[in-house]
Amino acid sequence: MRFEFELPTKIYFGAGILDEALKKEEKRIKGNVLLVSTKSMEEVGILERVKKSISELKYADNVYVFTDVTSNPKVEEVNKGIEYAVENKTDIVVGLGGGSAIDAAKAIAAGAGANEKIDKYFFEGKVPGENTLPIIAVPTTAGTGSELSKSGILSCTEKKIKTGVRGSMLYPKAAIVDPELTYTVPRNITMETGFDVLAHAIESYVSKASNYITQALSLQAVQMASESMRSLSENLSDINAREKICYASMIMGINLGNASTVLPHRMQYPIGALTDTGHGRGLMALYPAWIKNTYAFSAKKFDRICEIISGKECSCIDDALETFESFMKATCGTVYLEDFGLEYEDADKMAEMVTGNISLDPAGDKENILVSIYRDAFKNH
Ligand SMILES: [Fe+2]
Repeated sequence: MRFEFELPTKIYFGAGILDEALKKEEKRIKGNVLLVSTKSMEEVGILERVKKSISELKYADNVYVFTDVTSNPKVEEVNKGIEYAVENKTDIVVGLGGGSAIDAAKAIAAGAGANEKIDKYFFEGKVPGENTLPIIAVPTTAGTGSELSKSGILSCTEKKIKTGVRGSMLYPKAAIVDPELTYTVPRNITMETGFDVLAHAIESYVSKASNYITQALSLQAVQMASESMRSLSENLSDINAREKICYASMIMGINLGNASTVLPHRMQYPIGALTDTGHGRGLMALYPAWIKNTYAFSAKKFDRICEIISGKECSCIDDALETFESFMKATCGTVYLEDFGLEYEDADKMAEMVTGNISLDPAGDKENILVSIYRDAFKNH
């Protein structure tokens, strides 16, 4: 096996670590700071708390706030953020929130550093340059792992495109992962984002680009994410489980950049672009159908994953499907593509909308694999 492994981000992890970590990063957090977040962070008071902590840092002159970011962050929101960042001569960008806020922060840092709109990066695949502003990521959900990854996923509503701006300059300089910030996340979001963590673990494990390091991280994350989701579905106040899922989410950020996700993530993007539904829910709808179509191409790896999730021996496709059915019933619930307003006939259209590399999936080269999975993700077919 030959591989490269990249992890340029300084990690701060632990309940209550936020202020201590910001203090340790004070030399980096200098001049004009742009805090990119969402309205919901404002409503729960987290935004104000973090803004205050940053304002008190020795070298921070001004803290500007940009909260015009929605879920599935849009190209036009990012362009607005870039304009605001340039106007205020931003020196460093802090992304605070779920994946949407951190992804938008990364894209704003790239565009503002180069003093240009994000369009060329998003539509034409331009790679963010050396002039990208430094980024610090402070996640408030356990899900995307964006704090340790080199991509920012954006959407264009008009053209129905959802894809990533990617490049090594988008790695945050520091990731501050404080599980306390996730304590107030409601049950549905906890489960949806938790399922995203599990999906990162499973997909990066079966990915053809996985290596010895990422495979070990994947198995640890499958264990911790599935256990925590079960615990949190019974008791949302289980802070031990909150900590574990934050950790699993974070280390899967490492795998996103080093082993990649596979078909479900490529296939969720058209669903998100067409229906503006959350990332985790799209994955939940696709998973049983993906496993059904892909199991035979990587049976040993799927058996291993299912044994960790179920605690039972797994040796065939029926065991795998049963594992996911009962796990999802006990945690996030099951969902089908028609629940998002999609129709069976949309399968072909969605398959044509899939972008990016699909060959890393064990079944990526199988003929008509995309249409077949989309069709199977409808309950009535
Ligand atoms: Fe994801």
